[in-house]
Amino acid sequence: MVKDTVTIRNNKTGKEVDLPLEYGTVGTPAVDIGSLNKEIGTFTFDQGFMSTASCKSAITYIDGDKGVLLYRGYPIEQLAKNSSFLEVVYLLMNGELPRENELFSFASEIKQHSMIHEALRVFFNGFHYDAHPMSMMVGVMGSLSAFYHSELDMNDPEHRRISAMRMVAKVPTIAAASHRHSVGWPFIYPRLDLDYCENFMNMMFSLPGQQYIDENNYIDPVAVKALNLLFILHADHEQNASTSTVRLASSTGANPYACVAAGISALWGPAHGGANEAVLSMLAEIGTVDRIPEFIAKAKDKNDPFRLMGFGHRVYKNFDPRATITRETCYEVLEKFPSDDPLFDLMLALEEFALKDEYFIEKKLYPNVDFYSGIIYKALKIPEDMFTVMFVIARTAGWVSHWLEMMSEPSQRIGRPRQIYTGYDVRDYKPVLDR
Ligand code: ACO
Repeated sequence: MVKDTVTIRNNKTGKEVDLPLEYGTVGTPAVDIGSLNKEIGTFTFDQGFMSTASCKSAITYIDGDKGVLLYRGYPIEQLAKNSSFLEVVYLLMNGELPRENELFSFASEIKQHSMIHEALRVFFNGFHYDAHPMSMMVGVMGSLSAFYHSELDMNDPEHRRISAMRMVAKVPTIAAASHRHSVGWPFIYPRLDLDYCENFMNMMFSLPGQQYIDENNYIDPVAVKALNLLFILHADHEQNASTSTVRLASSTGANPYACVAAGISALWGPAHGGANEAVLSMLAEIGTVDRIPEFIAKAKDKNDPFRLMGFGHRVYKNFDPRATITRETCYEVLEKFPSDDPLFDLMLALEEFALKDEYFIEKKLYPNVDFYSGIIYKALKIPEDMFTVMFVIARTAGWVSHWLEMMSEPSQRIGRPRQIYTGYDVRDYKPVLDR
């Protein structure tokens, strides 16, 4: 069969090359440009990866125009309605939904790995009391490799599986410990009788002596349901900046804990995982409903770097399907945990204002998932500096799944982009007194 090709011609040299088109199961095909430099001496330039597929992957599919998000083929709406977070983690890691006994063993194994080494617990004492929890997440996740060095043979599938399980199991424990260190509370060990989200809420909020108080005070079913949903929605999002970072770091053969720590660092930025925290800071800065027009005008002003946080998305250009689901949950949570915090009213007013504004309509800038997730976390009493950490807990599932997928491919190559050099051409060194 003749392969579809795209012809590229270098007009300067007259050299031409036929490049094959690669098709996935669904979605936009890609030109395989691997031989371009060799054939016609040309690189491609695509700042921000606007038109570049960096890998082949069978995990997650997004159609940004239609607002479609599939994990292993299953629509996000169906998983959000019917699944638990751990079922989704199993699906992402293994490719299929688990049978009942498989899910039971998977959840039990995750529980068994949920403790962190006592020496690692003490590690937190080295952090200053006001360290941002994300800085502790980066450091502690990276340091896990020091504890599991004997199981880091990346050619051994069982070593890879155990490493992935450990990261998913320990990330809520590390996250809760980061919070408790910053407020000076004693660490709470994971409990085997609680499920993944309940356990996290318990490790975050329970206090010594509180076994005499109704535990529904801090493990509320509506809160746990909302958390389960947000973790599912944030579990994976194909080759986003942090996942691409994990993949690039992994391509060097670095250990998975270090690679996931690199992913956590990339997620920290306000244009990515830091957006939900940035939404709350922005609402605080706006302050009152009557100042919304002023900030909308700032967001539209090309000479002002201000952007409306929680609006717009690189891939979703009509709507973010996760935002539609989160919006519903946001209203449910606000009903269960009513608050007189003016930020909630401000958020609703800003949403309404921006959705009617010509600039936002024309540029297809809709609220993204993080516009609502920050509000939900705030209503659940999760501190603002923990919002991105919540994202880390969920996205660890995606990072380890991409890492497992990548490591199982025999034809791995180190990721090494090229550049267009814009510095000086060769020039001679001058002694310091002659400069
Ligand atoms: N407020 C105001 N204007 C915006 C916004 C915004 N939030 N987002 C995009 N625009 C404008 C840009 O100025 C640009 O205008 P122009 O065409 O006149 O130059 C146009 O819309 C396109 O924007 P780009 O920056 O090219 O879009 P890109 O796909 O590169 O960026 C991003 C996507 C980073 C998400 C951007 O919309 C943004 O900064 N949003 C706010 C931060 C945010 O909410 N991030 C969370 C993303 S979701 C996640 O990580 C889970």
